[in-house]
Amino acid sequence: MISRYTYGNCIETEAVLKKPETEAVPLPFFAVDTKEMTLTYQMGESDRVYGLGENLRGINKRGWIYVSKCTDDPEHMEDKRSLYAAHNFLVVDGQETFGVFVDDPGILSFDIGYTKSDELKVKASDWNLDVYVITGTDVKDIVRQFRCLIGRSYIPPLWAFGYGQSRWGYESEDDVREVVKRYRDLDIPLDSVYLDIDYMERYKDFTVNPKTFPNFPDFVKEMREEHIHLVPIIDAGVKQEEGYPVYEEGMAKGYFCTKEDGTPFVAAVWPGKAMFPDMLNTGARAWFGNQYRFLLEQGIEGFWNDMNEPSIFYTEDRLNEVMQKLEDYKGKNLDLHSFFEFQGLVSGLSNNEEDYQAFYHNMDGVRIRHDKVHNLYGYNMTRAAGEAFERLEPEKRILMFSRSSYIGMHRYGGVWQGDNKSWWSHLLLNVKMMPSLNMCGFLYTGADIGGFGADTTEELLMRWLEFGIFTPLMRNHSAAGTRQQEVYQFEKTDGFRHVIRLRYRLIPYLYSEYIKAALRDEMMFRPLSFDYPEDSYASQVEDQLLLGNELMLAPVCEQNARGRYVYLPEEMKLVRFLQDGTMKTRICPAGHQYIDVPLTDVVFFLRPDCCIPLAKPAQCTQEIDFENVRLLSYVKGNMASYEYYHDDGYGKDYDNPDHISILFTTEEG
Ligand code: GLC
Repeated sequence: MISRYTYGNCIETEAVLKKPETEAVPLPFFAVDTKEMTLTYQMGESDRVYGLGENLRGINKRGWIYVSKCTDDPEHMEDKRSLYAAHNFLVVDGQETFGVFVDDPGILSFDIGYTKSDELKVKASDWNLDVYVITGTDVKDIVRQFRCLIGRSYIPPLWAFGYGQSRWGYESEDDVREVVKRYRDLDIPLDSVYLDIDYMERYKDFTVNPKTFPNFPDFVKEMREEHIHLVPIIDAGVKQEEGYPVYEEGMAKGYFCTKEDGTPFVAAVWPGKAMFPDMLNTGARAWFGNQYRFLLEQGIEGFWNDMNEPSIFYTEDRLNEVMQKLEDYKGKNLDLHSFFEFQGLVSGLSNNEEDYQAFYHNMDGVRIRHDKVHNLYGYNMTRAAGEAFERLEPEKRILMFSRSSYIGMHRYGGVWQGDNKSWWSHLLLNVKMMPSLNMCGFLYTGADIGGFGADTTEELLMRWLEFGIFTPLMRNHSAAGTRQQEVYQFEKTDGFRHVIRLRYRLIPYLYSEYIKAALRDEMMFRPLSFDYPEDSYASQVEDQLLLGNELMLAPVCEQNARGRYVYLPEEMKLVRFLQDGTMKTRICPAGHQYIDVPLTDVVFFLRPDCCIPLAKPAQCTQEIDFENVRLLSYVKGNMASYEYYHDDGYGKDYDNPDHISILFTTEEG
């Protein structure tokens, strides 16, 4: 059951598709303090709290304070409170079990046992909220109801399940050709190469550098003949430059955000001074979305939207102020205080709170200060594109994912997990984020495999790929200036080939699971406790996941580990794929087990009376034979069956019953 409670005058976020009528009765579970602008729930000692989508720390969110404020901060460390997204949905499971979604586009905090260990306190910065409380038979049922409320998750094209190579620094056609050649020469599957800001002309959106990509449509075609999709990046900020049509048109139409006095709000990002399109204005959104046509017409079928928190390096006004203040420090002996003040002036230029209060949106006639709707910006950039694709390419699925997001955006695109680092702890963070993102509707997701910032190692990349072969978005991406991390940069190319090939063998299963999860409002990745609610140990497991109804994953996230302890809530079949092409299985009893996982082995667990389809190896998604699949099964009783979804991978008639078939087996496969 879902009930809605409204406080103040809510700003429409369109996170929820069909709103239930507002309830007059008091909010259940929470004490409401309208003066403090808080909702407080008294947690039981063993209550667990799940959700909050893309966030730091554990699967169980209890024990920390999280701030919903979309932030461009590449230091994803434990002491942080915000990442790029605002996903204000959580489920409390314990003494009472219920879900709560706080629909508020402004800044919110979720203090989950941080200030007081048994208190969950949601604090708003404005008292204009829609609060949805959801009760149901269990956590999965609550999540399903919530997902149904917010609408069907985005479904990407089939090729987007292939492996993608990316790096900030592929500067020309030849750089991209080289990547593809190296993969093909080594017989390592690949479906896409991402184009970072380097493909643009001086970082201007919807341009292609004519010197380095002299004939872009031909190049896109050449790559498509190689079964490679190119996926360009689009940034939120539009370069301020006379004669640049996107800037000039946006200015002429009044589609950029302005300062309080109506003059242009100028903030710098990659191209230097730039303007933010008013993504919250219907006209501006349609206009910005239409710009994608420039690339669609050249054969592009996928995009990633970036810097859309929006990220600000500096604003024109603040930079002027700071430059003047810096003058005062000239010739001075900087001591403890003055040195830090001096340093703070420069570091405080970026993503400054005050700057987010200095510009305005025109929400279809209502002028609204940015900070009140901050968390809607990235969502609406991606929505602008998604709505445009519906108009421009109605028959086709276009790949799209964003860095910043709010619930509601999950209908238009996926998310990648931002600028992580080549750290083992960030591999684990990737694991932990999967179920909480799924709870909030974000099914198409994955992290930068190998890590974005800092130098990766061969071992970390191998282990990350061994987990990444299960995530819908499987992309190796890294920052300029870091160690090159395409798999061919390392010695163990046979190991990498083996792991990535296995991804392609698993795609029929992963694709089927993805679409079923989207169509049925279910989670593709779940914590163990969601399926084994009576098992008190399962609720403590933070580094294993259930995938679909069939698999349990227990990734290795430790340097030099050649195995790990795994908790099995019930007897399962261990499946091991070895680099020599063989597969070994054995039945593992319930309980704690130490499992050997040599560096290039891929190990997962199959649940009893389950089977999954496994394709023959392929070099790209187009070559996968979805019809002739082999069943990998664990028949404990009489029979194992699998509900197999398969379609052409491009069209949108998902609900056609012909796409579903039942595969079953009665003996070991
Ligand atoms: C941002 C993105 C990253 C990208 C870089 C350059 O940091 O998060 O993925 O490579 O910008 O465009």
